[in-house]
Amino acid sequence: MAFRAPDIAIDLGTTNTLVYVQRKGIVISEPTIVVVEARDKHLVRAVGDEAALLLGRTTEALQAILPIRDGTIQDFDTAEVLVRYFMRKAIGVSHLLKPRVLVSIPAGLPAVARKVVTEAVVMAGGKRVVLVEKPLAAAIGAGLPVYEPVGSMVVDVGGGTTDTAIVSMGGLVVSQSIHVGGEKMNDAVVNYLKKNSGMLIGDRTAEAVKIDLASAIPPEGDSRRTHVRGRDLLSARVMDVEFTAAQAHDAVLEPCMAIMASVRWVLERTPPELSADIMRNGIHLTGGAAQLYGLDRLIGGQLGIPAMLAKDPQDCTILGMGYLLENPDLLADLARSGINENL
Ligand SMILES: Nc1ncnc2c1ncn2[C@@H]1O[C@H](COP(=O)(O)OP(=O)(O)OP(=O)(O)O)[C@@H](O)[C@H]1O
Ligand SMILES: [Mg+2]
Repeated sequence: MAFRAPDIAIDLGTTNTLVYVQRKGIVISEPTIVVVEARDKHLVRAVGDEAALLLGRTTEALQAILPIRDGTIQDFDTAEVLVRYFMRKAIGVSHLLKPRVLVSIPAGLPAVARKVVTEAVVMAGGKRVVLVEKPLAAAIGAGLPVYEPVGSMVVDVGGGTTDTAIVSMGGLVVSQSIHVGGEKMNDAVVNYLKKNSGMLIGDRTAEAVKIDLASAIPPEGDSRRTHVRGRDLLSARVMDVEFTAAQAHDAVLEPCMAIMASVRWVLERTPPELSADIMRNGIHLTGGAAQLYGLDRLIGGQLGIPAMLAKDPQDCTILGMGYLLENPDLLADLARSGINENL
């Protein structure tokens, strides 16, 4: 039977899930969170935006679950609930036919983990599942000449993973996925304050500090500072400390260096004829955490290759997946490719 285009695409991210419906565009962009009853996690109270709203008010009776960790499914049952909820929200509950679904995965994900993703989507009501590696989709979404015989380089810095790849002729030539992204940056801010101020802060505070104050490059002459509120590790009392731009830079330096190392690793393995294309056309940054202030300049400066942030970086992966959905020939090629074999 000839393969027909799937109906929807799901970018199942560690932090955010986006859904694209054919001929409609992006219809869902919500956090990857499920809130359940603590006494029985099968009693689901809220998913996505509604779950995030509840999150600040979770009592002991409720528990928040993040089903995707480091780019892959950590909690199968909850991931299934989340996918089913978003699929229904995207195409309507009354829909009798099961949709065909294109789903994003980190580059180089082992076959066992790929099978888990496929099974979760089928259990959630998907009919036929096609997988696409995130950097391929992100490169398409960033408008790079992915299907031409030139090399393009994309670094997708998401919440859970950074996927770096050289893309050419519709495929990944070299790629690496590391478990470093925006969430590790938040953790780095939390740990910095624990170590240096004896204070525990929440993830939302860490995220705000990262976005408002932190930078990947030294903040020379930047005297900005902010007050951070948390709990004294010893007395458990609420406390306030001053946090400077220089400290915020120190805090996120380690994850930034891990991203740099991965970009270098990929470049070192790039065939010389494609390297010349990269030197000329630059490195393209996608993903929400690529917006960390100065990350483009850090990468560009250290490598001597222009690095630039894509337009709407957080949407590149789903937009690339949408492009695949709207082009049945490209999708059919993808369905026959290695990552979709034996699933
Ligand atoms: N302005 C900003 N500066 C720094 N980080 C940001 C900014 N805006 C968003 N982020 C971070 O981007 C991350 C989310 O990005 P994105 O939605 O691309 O991740 P994801 O696709 O869910 O994760 P992954 O692809 O790794 O599974 C979060 O960690 C968030 O804090
Ligand atoms: Mg992503």
